[in-house]
Amino acid sequence: MKPQTADLWSKQDQHEGDRWRFFSAVAEAIEAENVLYPGCYVDIAPSFVFGSVTYLDVDKRTPGFFDDVDGVAEIVAAHNGPVNSDITFVHADYTSTLALPDNHFDLLISLYAGFISEHCTQHLKVGGTLLVNPSHGDAAMASIDSRYQLVGVAISESAGYKVDTKNLDGYLIPKKPQEITVDTLHESRRGIGYTKSPFAYLFTRVA
Ligand SMILES: C[S@@+](CC[C@H](N)C(=O)[O-])C[C@H]1O[C@@H](n2cnc3c(N)ncnc32)[C@H](O)[C@@H]1O
Repeated sequence: MKPQTADLWSKQDQHEGDRWRFFSAVAEAIEAENVLYPGCYVDIAPSFVFGSVTYLDVDKRTPGFFDDVDGVAEIVAAHNGPVNSDITFVHADYTSTLALPDNHFDLLISLYAGFISEHCTQHLKVGGTLLVNPSHGDAAMASIDSRYQLVGVAISESAGYKVDTKNLDGYLIPKKPQEITVDTLHESRRGIGYTKSPFAYLFTRVA
């Protein structure tokens, strides 16, 4: 493994194994083979549990990381990832037109990287899952998008994460009454303060 690969990964994995535990809980809850992760930076933890992942980021450090194919494979193997793990990296801005198939992916990941649901939903299959955390407002964006329906929440627990698919009525309720529209979310670029705070939400693409 190249030194810069090891260095970038150790900084990414500061809470050692946290993302591994997170994606493991998600993989237990949903069926997904083809995964798209825009704004991934160097978070390759999805490849510890999913067979085929397309990573995409605009950061200039990311191509060097993913070009170290042996180094990345070493990290995946150290986390018991699938032996024939299929990893693709696209160096691109996800707000541009992407050379990726439409209605193709089973899982679209949106973590701390802006309004991915707005720009990349076309690549997710109808029936596929959007996994999104609330920090940059993308969970709120999905909550007002008629193409999505909330089907689960990923909750952080002392031993890891659990995905709850029941009793979802109490989620996505703002602490303060407020208007939530595409425009207000674009303006604030921040998450909404909700009465309950799971780490992430799972939405099914329904249209
Ligand atoms: C805070 S990091 C989060 C990385 C990773 N998702 C995680 O949770 O560890 C945000 C990443 O999103 C990427 N990003 C932000 N806007 C982007 C865009 N329009 N196109 C591609 N990547 C983008 C940045 O380059 C950065 O690597």
